[in-house]
Amino acid sequence: MTCYIYCCLNSYDTIVIGAGAAGFFAAIEAAKREQKVLLIDHSSKIGEKIRISGGGRCNFTNLGASYENYISQNPNFCRSALSQFGPEDFVKLVNKHKIKFHEKKLGQLFCDDSSQEIIDMLLVEAEASGLKLHIPYSCKKIYHCPESEYKFMLDEFARSRSLIIATGGLSIPKIGASDFGYRIAKQFGLNIVKTKPALVPLVIEDEELRKLTGISFDSIVAIRRQSFRENSLFTHKGLSGPAILQISSYWDAGERINLNLSPDLDVYKELKKIKDSKETRKKQKIKNILKDFVYLENSQLKNKISRKNIFPDKFIDFLESRFNLENNLAESSDKELQELAQQINSFGFIPDATEGYAKAEVTRGGVDTKELDSKTMEVKQVPGLFFIGEVVDVTGWLGGYNFQWAWSSGYVAGNSC
Ligand code: FDA
Repeated sequence: MTCYIYCCLNSYDTIVIGAGAAGFFAAIEAAKREQKVLLIDHSSKIGEKIRISGGGRCNFTNLGASYENYISQNPNFCRSALSQFGPEDFVKLVNKHKIKFHEKKLGQLFCDDSSQEIIDMLLVEAEASGLKLHIPYSCKKIYHCPESEYKFMLDEFARSRSLIIATGGLSIPKIGASDFGYRIAKQFGLNIVKTKPALVPLVIEDEELRKLTGISFDSIVAIRRQSFRENSLFTHKGLSGPAILQISSYWDAGERINLNLSPDLDVYKELKKIKDSKETRKKQKIKNILKDFVYLENSQLKNKISRKNIFPDKFIDFLESRFNLENNLAESSDKELQELAQQINSFGFIPDATEGYAKAEVTRGGVDTKELDSKTMEVKQVPGLFFIGEVVDVTGWLGGYNFQWAWSSGYVAGNSC
């Protein structure tokens, strides 16, 4: 590329590639500082992930977001960005735009009405900031001229002093995900932490388990020292539900996952207690005793407390395919009871696979945080180049943490470029 063409391009202080949550936010912040900013995206529809998020209501942050809710080779990396722009700062912005929201559970904030309100809020902020949005635009090549004032050039289209890459991860390719960010990182010689689908349903090739499709349990799911207590759902492919999505982010192929399908009931202890008691029900079949285990559900809608079976019939049928539940409890050995209880309180399984990027909410891994300054997101060896959002090796738990990372990393880059 000759210098002559270089000088005739549209010139910007900052170009941001990727108009998702992170890129949008960074571009707005930079433009608010009177910078001339260009935001591009290869998709003609922007903020698609925001639109489909949270079941259409965008879980836009989590009030408790801290570095402990993120997976990264350097777990401390996200501390600085989160402290410079935290959940409460984003909530202030949402309040400024009079968007109604509610806390669903565990600090998770959702729009009352629609995710579109968050996209509209960003569009209003973008317009007020004066940034230029150019979509759809597919960038083919980035040229780097470190000695020049305008160090970065997009094709033969535009040049800038700073360049922010916010092209996200690989999940949901059908709405615009691409490997562009990783390719640019490689172009600049940056290390990439191996990527894999995260917050993703798990596949288990077991015909017996198919029979449980549709059943969900309050559960504790654990791998190594990480555990989550939320619902797990049996699907026609394996397992899903919030607890499974959470643990999937920690799972590596071949690893065993432990699932407690009855966290509040130690089945062995309970059966043993009945067996060793004088209660007449110890003469009942184990199957019927299991069917009688109930929990109390407080229905706020009907304002009444009802008794619910802990183990649905389909699950008891499944257990019956592995154990003889026709035996009377009194006649069963402690070892048999222990083995049965283990299937419930400590159900171990090794997933065959995940459902892949097509179903993953996020991508784990990405641009190695060692390459970036945690205060600004700028590449240490390449002044003026920034990586933000999901393309970086910072992956949040389920529950609004990923958007908070997008806002926080976007904020710091937008104020440092
Ligand atoms: P994001 O993927 O949002 O944006 C990247 C942008 O770059 C896209 O607009 C894309 O078109 C563009 N792009 C890609 N390649 C390009 C190229 N070559 N040239 C130009 N542009 C390019 N998180 C959360 O906190 N709460 C929630 O409720 C949900 N819910 C949810 C539901 C579903 C179904 C999914 C898939 C994901 C979520 N998430 C979530 C995760 C959240 O959506 C995600 O972490 C953020 O959108 C990441 O923001 P980024 O801006 O980094 O990437």
